[in-house]
Amino acid sequence: MAHVVANPHVLYVGTPALLVASTNADGSPNLAPASSSWALGRMLCLGIEADGQTALNMAARAGITVNYPSAPLWPALVRLSHLTGRSPVPEAKRDRYTYEHDKFAAARLTPQRSDLVDAPRVRECALQFEAMVRRMTPGLDRSYFMVEAEVVRVHADEAIVQDGTGEIDPRAWHPLVYAFRHFFDRGAEAGWLPSSRIAEHPPVID
Ligand SMILES: Cc1cc2nc3c(=O)[nH]c(=O)nc-3n(C[C@H](O)[C@H](O)[C@H](O)COP(=O)(O)O)c2cc1C
Repeated sequence: MAHVVANPHVLYVGTPALLVASTNADGSPNLAPASSSWALGRMLCLGIEADGQTALNMAARAGITVNYPSAPLWPALVRLSHLTGRSPVPEAKRDRYTYEHDKFAAARLTPQRSDLVDAPRVRECALQFEAMVRRMTPGLDRSYFMVEAEVVRVHADEAIVQDGTGEIDPRAWHPLVYAFRHFFDRGAEAGWLPSSRIAEHPPVID
């Protein structure tokens, strides 16, 4: 490798894209694309912009769903990318965003009733988490929140669940990857950990 100093406009290095559903004050659902997330145990930490409808909803109603699209759903994220469920549109977003009350219809996605939270799941997503927001910590410049949400139920299309164990089969699961404003399918398997619950044998390495 020959490293040079790079100057990327954004730092989205390649993380799963997600669709976060929350509940508006009138009981209707909101839906927002996101990509800032990580998980430890049952806790999911999301980076959520402070001036969006999603942050307002999370602060008022803790039940959300986090839905993971596969690669063919990338146009839905583009359809949502200039829409906000917040009215009036915040000053800083007015040049780029318009208000949309029915984000599911705008994205051409289908709301699916959840088991434990009011926010609906996205039927077209093969992997769906129901979660409760437990804490919202303002970021340093207050433009975003670090949202800690406890996953209370996982739903998965049976095609990606291993028979009998309930484990997700990572070889069957193709998350949509968001990297530097482009979308990618997951790519080929490179290896696995000795702790895999799916692999037939431990990895063979030097
Ligand atoms: C691919 C993609 C990834 C995004 N990632 C995030 C994110 O991680 N966190 C966030 O708050 N906004 C993210 N956004 C922007 C939000 O979708 C945007 O702020 C929108 O206004 C949220 O909708 P809402 O105002 O109805 O909540 C992303 C948008 C796109 C298209």
